Amino acid sequence: MKKYKAVIFDLDGVICHTDEYHYLAWKQIADGLGVYFDRNINNRLRGVSRMESLEIILEKYDGEVSCKLKEKLAYEKNETYKKLLRNMTPADVPVEVKETLEKMRAAGIKTAIGSSSKNAGLILQKTELACFFDAVSDGNCITRSKPDPEVFVRAAEFLGESPSDCLVVEDAFAGVDAALAGGFACAGIGDAGAYRKAGYRLSAFSELLDICGVE
Ligand code: BG6
Ligand code: MG
Repeated sequence: MKKYKAVIFDLDGVICHTDEYHYLAWKQIADGLGVYFDRNINNRLRGVSRMESLEIILEKYDGEVSCKLKEKLAYEKNETYKKLLRNMTPADVPVEVKETLEKMRAAGIKTAIGSSSKNAGLILQKTELACFFDAVSDGNCITRSKPDPEVFVRAAEFLGESPSDCLVVEDAFAGVDAALAGGFACAGIGDAGAYRKAGYRLSAFSELLDICGVE
């Protein structure tokens, strides 16, 4: 019997490198405000919702920002981000990722997306990845973002599996915390590949095949 019946993947920073586009779009907003922002601060935005990300950036802003201005800044960031996404093609997904997903699915393991992003549908469309997943749980399905487990709990429900039968794959510390809070096993990759709370720490995406007992 396979160790996990399903694997739930974070999208940005796990399946494709849209995390760099998030960084570039937020950098433009931070520069416009005269706020210091670098890749280290950007790492704190991984897995965190758009508005919560803005609040983190504003920690270094000296002054009051009205709700209306926050809405405007979040809107502008998303417009810049979507412009960057326009250039995405299926070639932006590493071959290793596609082959791993194909092998897992051929072995009968269900796959889902568990992402805080409201742009997940657009990214799956641009990269032609929708057919690689049985379910998509994203920022449009949830009221609380990671480290709350809601997005993964929804994904498990969509798949008809219980959290204890699912493995979550995450690049964000907040995402690993979310998975553990929901009773899921978790594999960290990228930034979270060094997070001690992650039950598995990956240096390559294809290591998931071994973990899941796929030949
Ligand atoms: C997550 C990203 O996947 O989605 C975060 O890691 C981002 O950085 C969040 O803030 C929300 O994304 P979006 O596309 O709805 O602004
Ligand atoms: Mg991520």
